[in-house]
Amino acid sequence: MGNSLLELLSPAVKRLRASEIRELLKLVRKSKEIISFAGGIPDPKYFPKEELAEIATKVITEQGEYSLQYSETKGVPELREALADFLYRNRGFKADPENIIITSGSQQALDIVARAFICIGDKVITESPSYLAAIGAFKLAGAELVGIKIDENGMKTFILEDVLRKLKSEGFKPKFIYTIPVAQNPGGVTMSRDRKKHLLELASQYDLLVIEDDPYSYFVFDEKADITSLKALDKEDRVLYMSTISKILAPGIRLGWIVPPEELTRRLELLKQYVDLHSPTLNQYIFAEAIKTGLVDRHVKKLKNVYKVKRDAMVSAMEEYFPEYTWYSRPIGGFFVFTYIYKQGFDAKSYLTVAIEKYKVAYVPGQGFHPDGTGENSMRLSFSYPSPETIREGIKRLSQLIKEL
Ligand SMILES: Cc1ncc(COP(=O)(O)O)c(C=O)c1O
Repeated sequence: MGNSLLELLSPAVKRLRASEIRELLKLVRKSKEIISFAGGIPDPKYFPKEELAEIATKVITEQGEYSLQYSETKGVPELREALADFLYRNRGFKADPENIIITSGSQQALDIVARAFICIGDKVITESPSYLAAIGAFKLAGAELVGIKIDENGMKTFILEDVLRKLKSEGFKPKFIYTIPVAQNPGGVTMSRDRKKHLLELASQYDLLVIEDDPYSYFVFDEKADITSLKALDKEDRVLYMSTISKILAPGIRLGWIVPPEELTRRLELLKQYVDLHSPTLNQYIFAEAIKTGLVDRHVKKLKNVYKVKRDAMVSAMEEYFPEYTWYSRPIGGFFVFTYIYKQGFDAKSYLTVAIEKYKVAYVPGQGFHPDGTGENSMRLSFSYPSPETIREGIKRLSQLIKEL
């Protein structure tokens, strides 16, 4: 017998660890009495099932020759054209359909970005906290992450300025700055216009690529908020924009898109070709039709109301029950509220078991979202799935835990 086949795995894959928290939260999903603020998933009650079934039937019966066939790596032209129009209406920038790459969810977009730019040991800048799966994708590719703290106005770009200066003096040039400017996951904060401008000025000064991940801006509840996209403000074509169908229609369709700086499009397209040839053609036809028939617009309008009520339920319950030694975000959209508990010794990770077993409430401990491993006293609370009444009750239980432990 030879050695275990596991020995053949690459060092990067050997280093992958299953998250204990994920395992624990799997049990939570099966229990009816535990209120979970853990999973950041859309409320499935609102999936537009009938309309999607009609569209799927139509694109198979009427366009089956194309929709069931292999297709272009960049994506089917009908979808890229529909998306260009959708982006212009919703995000205020003109994308040439030839410059849009359809991906299999924005997770694939993150993977493509990681593979395209990161060499082992490269520095990458993210917000702190930042999206767990982006942190994972960048680390898997070998990046060393530098986290920039956030406040209610998003990434603290004055800290970014200091960090870039310091890195330069040490001889480092980061590969890119990754940001989720609107209704950030997990922070629940939105970057102010001034900070967006500052970020772009710094990117220009240090000649950096900016990755704008934008899943949540399409259903912002607060109409007055300034949610201008970085891509719309970008005069030098250095922002790579990415977004996803997952929150505006359904994550199971697994589609996302990249609008890269034009000079990068061909290289990224080639890379995707080596990864999976193309994203599912049928799903692309369904998505194109859902945009063209106005289903996406109608659905997004409905979602705004649904999630606004849930957000209000969570924030108002926190105002009522949370003690004064806590900070929490007041998101204008998205699925998440992030909270820091400033109480000596409070450790969200080690309290999770007792939260679930005794207080019957679950959350995601915040430490994993912080690239530097801080944030023991933080947690991410998702309001997307539970009903408003359940959210209220869950926040009440959580506040008991915070006060008693
Ligand atoms: C900031 C951010 N980026 C990317 C994604 C991934 O989305 P997708 O389902 O398209 O892979 C998510 C999903 O939660 C997200 O919050």
